[in-house]
Amino acid sequence: MLDNPSDLLFGPVFDTVDIGLVVLDSRGCIVGWNEWMARVSRHEARKVLGRPLLKVFPEVRGTRLPDVIEDSLRVGSSSILTHTLNALLPLQGESDEPLLHNIVVRPVSSVRANYCLLQITDVTVAVTRERVLRERQNARYHAIVDSVPDAIITIDDNRNIQWVNGAVDRVLGYSHSELLGQRLDILLDPDNPLLQALAQTSIGNKADNAISIMGRHKDGKSGYFDVSLGHWRADQRNFVTTIWRDVTERVEADAALRDARDALQKNNEELESRVEERTREREVALQQLHESQKMESIGQLTGGVAHDFNNLLAVILGSLSLLKKAAPDDPRVSRLLDRAILGAERGATLTARLLAFARRQELKVEFVSLQKLLPEMLDFLRHSVGPNVAVHVEISPAVCAVEVDANQLELALINLAVNARDAMTQGGTLTIACHNEDHGKRVGLPRDPFVCITITDTGEGMSTATLARAQEPFFTTKGVGKGTGLGLSMVQGFTAQSGGALRIRSEPGKGTKVTLWLPRAKEGFVAANAEIQPAQSTQSKSLRVLLVDDDILVSMGAADMLLDLGHSVTEAQSGAHALKLLKSDAPFDVVVTDYAMPGMNGFELAQRIKAGHPRLPIVLATGYAELPADRSIEFGHLSKPYTSKDLAAALEKAVSL
Ligand SMILES: Nc1ncnc2c1ncn2[C@@H]1O[C@H](COP(=O)(O)OP(=O)(O)OP(=O)(O)O)[C@@H](O)[C@H]1O
Ligand SMILES: [Mg+2]
Repeated sequence: MLDNPSDLLFGPVFDTVDIGLVVLDSRGCIVGWNEWMARVSRHEARKVLGRPLLKVFPEVRGTRLPDVIEDSLRVGSSSILTHTLNALLPLQGESDEPLLHNIVVRPVSSVRANYCLLQITDVTVAVTRERVLRERQNARYHAIVDSVPDAIITIDDNRNIQWVNGAVDRVLGYSHSELLGQRLDILLDPDNPLLQALAQTSIGNKADNAISIMGRHKDGKSGYFDVSLGHWRADQRNFVTTIWRDVTERVEADAALRDARDALQKNNEELESRVEERTREREVALQQLHESQKMESIGQLTGGVAHDFNNLLAVILGSLSLLKKAAPDDPRVSRLLDRAILGAERGATLTARLLAFARRQELKVEFVSLQKLLPEMLDFLRHSVGPNVAVHVEISPAVCAVEVDANQLELALINLAVNARDAMTQGGTLTIACHNEDHGKRVGLPRDPFVCITITDTGEGMSTATLARAQEPFFTTKGVGKGTGLGLSMVQGFTAQSGGALRIRSEPGKGTKVTLWLPRAKEGFVAANAEIQPAQSTQSKSLRVLLVDDDILVSMGAADMLLDLGHSVTEAQSGAHALKLLKSDAPFDVVVTDYAMPGMNGFELAQRIKAGHPRLPIVLATGYAELPADRSIEFGHLSKPYTSKDLAAALEKAVSL
């Protein structure tokens, strides 16, 4: 309770406190002014006492302070005015710096009058400390947001950029000032997923993960970014802070890795398919090897059997021809003999086919012009296939000549034409065409070059199973007694023995194309086996013949023929036996020897004889082709089975040399 303000004016308590104390009377005049106030206002107490506060500090007019004082005096209310919200008194510290202060205004009542107490507190130190602290915090905050490698961009509701961190320059190429106020859209393509994400997320509905987008740098280049969003609200406005992480390098590295992985996978797949292909090729090769080994053994077996049959047929044919001479002139007997000879000759044809398949026939290789041979054969071919089948031969003058046995080639073509006819029961077309082939590698032939003869029919074709077995000997689909199954075997053996190959392509219902690969004739070719016409002798003289054969039956047959021809015969059962007989000085005009004999073969024997008796003529009789072609010309030659006419011709040729 304050009864007399003068009690306070000099109160030593007032002057010792470290805050400002001002007492105003009901008119707003200063009645109390302590020492602290005098110091910071630079107004001594005696100069201000009794004066209105607003006169001492005119600058506070228009501020809240006069109103607050009035309220306190009139209605007794208390107020606090802080320096942050109000302009206050012009007070100064010791170094004239403005003194930051708060003012508490309180009513003070006495019996006689109402007063108002202003309590002024210096907050300069506290405020300064607070400011320094805040500035330090701000600096730390800026250091943090500017040091992050990601661009941080805050936008408002309209996607206008409000704030960016220092990294935008490095990440997007824009300076701080270039982005502020711009729309975020300048960094995005029109249908960028970020725009959709911004529309779909909010404070309560956050995106779970960063959004992967393509952003645009200031220079127009695009880059990959992972952008995370943070929605927030301040002063009733919505903001979104976007954090942009540049992941271009990672995405490109990923893509490169993916490409490399894809390429690797592709390589692996290629490798696998190549391995599979090789394995398949290997299996096919093994199959072919197996097949050719099978054919080889069948060939050897067939060759052996055919050779033996040949010998027997030689005996039969020889004996029959002798019998025909000796038999009485009875037409019935001679008919029977003719039929027997015909049968034996057909047997000989069959063994010839077998020998051809076994590649053991005698080949008389010669220069064959296809331009000459094919037209010559045309009539015969037409005859063989019948009127229902049209035969065309296409051969240009450019097609080269071949080096083969012409007779065997003719036989092969006839076999193929007959096969084609059998496949075209309703009629069709058979085309024989020729062309040159420079390389034989395609069909696994080592020697070059070739001429191909293709025989194409429009017949029923072959199933895969038939095609696979067609070249096997004795394989036929023509039924018992109708086909021997040796036609293609013969052709195959003939082409192989000639240094060529046989290839067949066929599909059921689409006809068959058979290709014969035959060696092209070398320039200046002269057939090694070219037949030398025997000098025609006008009269045949009686010869002393040394006949060598290990097969007694064959030997007997040949001896009979020789005797019948008017010659004398001495038989030897082996090479050694023959040499022994020659040593005994028995006179011989000629030696006829079998080729295939155990111990010493006919060729070895012939060479031994030639060494001791160079002038003695020798005839080699053979059904085999084992005799090296170039050597057979050293000696006379007789193909088994032979007739007495063949024998006579061979002897005549040998002795006339
Ligand atoms: N041009 C072709 N069209 C359809 N099938 C064919 C043709 N040529 C051969 N063949 C088939 O191959 C098989 C064997 O033929 P190959 O000539 O070896 O014996 P073949 O013709 O049956 O008997 P042959 O030749 O003694 O008359 C035939 O039975 C037939 O099934
Ligand atoms: Mg046939």
